[in-house]
Amino acid sequence: MRALLVALLATATVRAETHMFQTEVSRLLDIIINSLYSQKEVFLREAISNASDALDKIRFIGVQDSRQLDLEPELCMRITTDKEAETLTIEDTGVGMSHADLVNNLGTIARSGTTQFLEAIARSSSLNLIGQFGVGFYSYFLVAAEVTVISKHADDAQHVWRSSAGASFTLERDDVGPFLKRGTRVILKLKKEAKEFLEPKRIRELVTKYSEFINFPIFLHVSHEVEKEIDETPIEEDLVSNDDTTPRNDTPSSEDTTPKDEATPSEDTTPKDDTTPIDDITQKDDTTPKDEKDGAVEEKPVAKKKVKETVWEWEQLNAHKALWLRPIEELKHDDYRQFYRVLAKDSFEDPLAWVHFRAEGEVEFTALLYIPKRMPRQFDDETHAKTNVRLYVRRVLIGDDFRELLPRYLGFVQGVVDSDDLPINVSRESLQQLRALKTVKKKLVRKVLEKLERLAGVKAAEGEKAEEGAEAAEKRATRRKRYEDIWKEYGKAIKLGVVDDASNRDKLAALLLYRSTFNDTQTLVSFADYKSRLQPNQTDIFYLGGDAAKDMLTAPMVRSLARLGYEVLLMDEPIDEYATQILGKFNDLKLTNIGKAGFKLPQNEQEKADEPRLAKLYQPLVDYLRRVLPDVAKVTLNAHIAPEPLIVLGAEMGYSAHLEKIARAQAVTHNADQLNTLNLVKRNVQLNPFHPFVKELLDRLTGGENAETERVALSLYETGLVNSGYALREPAKFAARVYRLLGQALGLPADVDHVELDLASVQLEEPAKEPVADEEAAPESFDELVDSPAATDPVSVDQTAADAQPADGVEQLSGEL
Ligand SMILES: *[C@@H]1O[C@H](CO)[C@@H](O)[C@H](O)[C@H]1NC(C)=O
Ligand SMILES: *[C@@H]1O[C@H](CO)[C@@H](O)[C@H](O)[C@H]1NC(C)=O
Ligand SMILES: *[C@@H]1O[C@H](CO)[C@@H](O)[C@H](O)[C@H]1NC(C)=O
Ligand SMILES: *[C@@H]1O[C@H](CO)[C@@H](O)[C@H](O)[C@H]1NC(C)=O
Repeated sequence: MRALLVALLATATVRAETHMFQTEVSRLLDIIINSLYSQKEVFLREAISNASDALDKIRFIGVQDSRQLDLEPELCMRITTDKEAETLTIEDTGVGMSHADLVNNLGTIARSGTTQFLEAIARSSSLNLIGQFGVGFYSYFLVAAEVTVISKHADDAQHVWRSSAGASFTLERDDVGPFLKRGTRVILKLKKEAKEFLEPKRIRELVTKYSEFINFPIFLHVSHEVEKEIDETPIEEDLVSNDDTTPRNDTPSSEDTTPKDEATPSEDTTPKDDTTPIDDITQKDDTTPKDEKDGAVEEKPVAKKKVKETVWEWEQLNAHKALWLRPIEELKHDDYRQFYRVLAKDSFEDPLAWVHFRAEGEVEFTALLYIPKRMPRQFDDETHAKTNVRLYVRRVLIGDDFRELLPRYLGFVQGVVDSDDLPINVSRESLQQLRALKTVKKKLVRKVLEKLERLAGVKAAEGEKAEEGAEAAEKRATRRKRYEDIWKEYGKAIKLGVVDDASNRDKLAALLLYRSTFNDTQTLVSFADYKSRLQPNQTDIFYLGGDAAKDMLTAPMVRSLARLGYEVLLMDEPIDEYATQILGKFNDLKLTNIGKAGFKLPQNEQEKADEPRLAKLYQPLVDYLRRVLPDVAKVTLNAHIAPEPLIVLGAEMGYSAHLEKIARAQAVTHNADQLNTLNLVKRNVQLNPFHPFVKELLDRLTGGENAETERVALSLYETGLVNSGYALREPAKFAARVYRLLGQALGLPADVDHVELDLASVQLEEPAKEPVADEEAAPESFDELVDSPAATDPVSVDQTAADAQPADGVEQLSGEL
């Protein structure tokens, strides 16, 4: 036997051709071998996707040439680990490679850009690109000291390719076997540091991670112990031990020429041979291989002795079929929910909604997108914002964080996009440049927005007519309530969309909800709601930005508009004013920020007639105020602001008070120059010509300017400033002026800030007896605390007083309560 083996090996050596790798391949292998790249596991993804390609190819060929497919009709992958031989074997029943294929495919890289590619991976020491560049095969050397490829193509004999990297590989015709019907078997002799890949657990984990949606079954050869009652006849035992427990252990891969039991022609006679169960499993549904097999084992009737034995079986690792490729009409809601759990991995929640569609035309693809119930946490952190959509090209995962698939603001969407039209062989970077990907993105965004529109009740589902009547109204109310919950999760994202996505701005605008003066901020209002309540001749949607809707209700601009019957949207998030400014209008309605000058309410005939007369009358005061008020660009008259005498607004092209506050806060922390610029920002003042203060100021000017008038004017302005939501630049001066006015109100002389007090006449009460006891106790405790000679009596007295006070206060407080 041994002699025979030696002879076989000798002939093999003689017949093997040695081929040199193309220079680029040697260089690539060199980089791989010396790489410190930590994600060595990628090799398995590459192996599976390579096998999947080969299976796809034969399936395609089989359409025209059934002869090739008939050689081995079963399309699958099998993974075997062998701890003794330290080998990992990945086998597929794909198209296989001829002698010429092996030389060309596994020895040369015939691709433009190879040099740049090699430089890039050498520089970045990252091998992420390797698969996308189409040279994933060589990543096997990340874990393998030696790679053996046995391949059988329909039109050629079986060949064995072998290499330990370096500069060359050997290739020989395989006359010995075991023979494959068709396909490729890759045997990796694992390096010492790659022993983890001999663990079925690890393999299972990786296949789940990378290849769960591969369209072909992936089987892993696993063993487990069973207690079995067997007949005492020795023949039966022989059979068991030969076929079940040690099918591979006696055929180490370094001696591949040794025939393996499973492929011997006599296999049909042994009932428990490795290859037989596979057919059983795959012909039935993929979900029940285990039960089927166990059932078969236990059926044996003879039972006399109990023994433990190892049972080998093929476990299908990728039980989750490509759900999105199944006909949409076949799928039930439950299927979608279950798939969501698989996809979202850690989610125990049902999705909020999903869209499943097949796009045709320029780029054909299938997409299944989910909107989760809750905003994923990472969305808030912009640097980590990423999309959660997996891109498959021909069922092979290209990436799960392609920013190009969805815009940033839709980063919460999870799902799968699968296209046969995108190239799989280009690098990720160049894939991102593809026009096709932009087309995909456009369609994905449209579908997600349509879904949101439907949820918001902006757009009725197809076939659903706008209904009338009480029932329909109730339905709309329920939907709206639900949408408000969705809004709480995704409102920020939608606002970000308004800012970022110019082409979908109008659609997004229809989804926005705000607090409003309507129903005292209790009801969330959309632009369309607002529009349904317009006053006659109203052409604007009025809004104001601020910190809290409730507080804005009392802003002078809001109050005066509300009194005239106009609704005002109260925008309470920092992004709101910015987004609304970008939006500009909703349908034909102008979006008008009432925190800034430049908006005019419709005037009635009387108001129109009065305008020039009022202007003439107040010209002296307007001129005067422009001169004496700091930072004021424009002074105008506005009768609508009653009962306020005056309000201050941002310039039409500048900041509103709220926006200025936000900008200021940012500038303080980030940008001193911006702060200086902000300090130069000018405001607009609007005077109420019918207010007595304003009229009085005008009258006083007729008698000539004086310091007193200027002080009143400044105080009036500054009070209006605060009332309009601005921060004072010089609060001390403002305070000084107000004190002076208070002094006048109290009838006190001006410019006197000190009075003499007759303190001697103040009678102090005698100190009570009881506190003395406290004073005695206090020094002790104080000494205990501060064991220091510097602690003198006066200090300790102060200490007791201070100590005593809060206690009294607390007692009083609790008493009041
Ligand atoms: C495996 O990948 C290599 C390139 O990495 C390719 O040339 C070869 O054809 C692939 N093998 C199969 C069986 O698809
Ligand atoms: C990718 O493959 C297609 C055909 O399969 C080919 O036309 C194209 O040039 C390839 N691209 C690269 C970068 O190799
Ligand atoms: C006004 O708000 C209250 C309290 O939230 C609510 O119950 C009521 O339905 C709202 N009215 C309208 C017309 O929206
Ligand atoms: C609306 O405008 C028309 C035409 O300009 C005018 O006749 C009418 O009085 C206005 N209505 C109100 C309520 O201002």
